[in-house]
Amino acid sequence: MKAMRYLMAPVWVAALATGAKSFRDNPVIGSPALNRRGLYVRRAKLAHGMAWHRRGRLARMISAEDRAAFDRDGFVMRPDFLPREKFERLRDAIFAHPAPAREMLQGDTVTRRYAVDPGFIAAVPEIRTLLSDPDWRGLNRYVGSFDQEPLTYVQTILSHINNSKPDPQTDLHIDTFHPTVKAFYFLTDVKEDEGPFVYVPGSHRLTPGRLKWEYEQSILAASGGDRLSARGSLRASAAEIERMGFAAPRAFAVPANTLVVADTVGFHARGLSARPTVRVEVWTYGRRNPFLPWTGLDPWSIPGLAERRIPFVWDVRDFLNRKGLISQPWKDVGLLRPQDPPGLPVA
Ligand SMILES: [Fe+2]
Repeated sequence: MKAMRYLMAPVWVAALATGAKSFRDNPVIGSPALNRRGLYVRRAKLAHGMAWHRRGRLARMISAEDRAAFDRDGFVMRPDFLPREKFERLRDAIFAHPAPAREMLQGDTVTRRYAVDPGFIAAVPEIRTLLSDPDWRGLNRYVGSFDQEPLTYVQTILSHINNSKPDPQTDLHIDTFHPTVKAFYFLTDVKEDEGPFVYVPGSHRLTPGRLKWEYEQSILAASGGDRLSARGSLRASAAEIERMGFAAPRAFAVPANTLVVADTVGFHARGLSARPTVRVEVWTYGRRNPFLPWTGLDPWSIPGLAERRIPFVWDVRDFLNRKGLISQPWKDVGLLRPQDPPGLPVA
């Protein structure tokens, strides 16, 4: 075992220069002694600084208004994002199309995802209206701090599908130690008590209060009882967030055709839902090595390749899962429409 540690040590150290975040899987990242000496907070500060620097170079891609809102709050919200008629055509086409779906069950919630890949775009060409929209493109890039094509999915959240405990996404957390983008373009109305996206305004900034809390967590996380914090998505209670000096969390009760683009290094969650609900959205996710000094040069953003990444990654994970090397929580559930009931057994 000791020999293994010597062999792996260079890999663990090299991972410091990447987005690797797991306190539990990497003993260097998770080292309480190193984090007491400031390893984690230095990495976080450097990653935040570089992201803001890259954003400065991407600012021309969005309006001054959106930029001011994001820089202040950590998110941009745009109601009535597409013209009404275009929104309705897009929504109806997506809802009518049975596409290859993947599902994951967490607590009492099923998350279903569809890859917006060449097959999906051919079947639902209306989605090009969204994908080519300059504000959609600009906001994904500015918030993500890279001139890259995000991974784009259609996502359904089916809540209260059984009597289990709420899913762990309903705890306020940060996704990782560095800025990163997620966008939600809602195709259904989301009411306050129907599992809305929740965000703590201004918490995308490394304020002294937040930095102090992260410093303390970085020392405890590897050995703490919370599995998701140990894997690098630190969880905080409402009281801790208040002590950090942030405002109260805001729940995005929004009508369909609203776009929300957020930096999920800020504290966020999925709100609890009071009853069974079906939320459908176009959802993106953009992440890259946070220490890259440049904004572009992403080979995976090349048209033709970019839309094939999701099925490719799913196939690779399925293969590794069959070999017993990793677990693949995203189960293939065949062809389903976005508002269909779960394909997974959920009892
Ligand atoms: Fe998250």
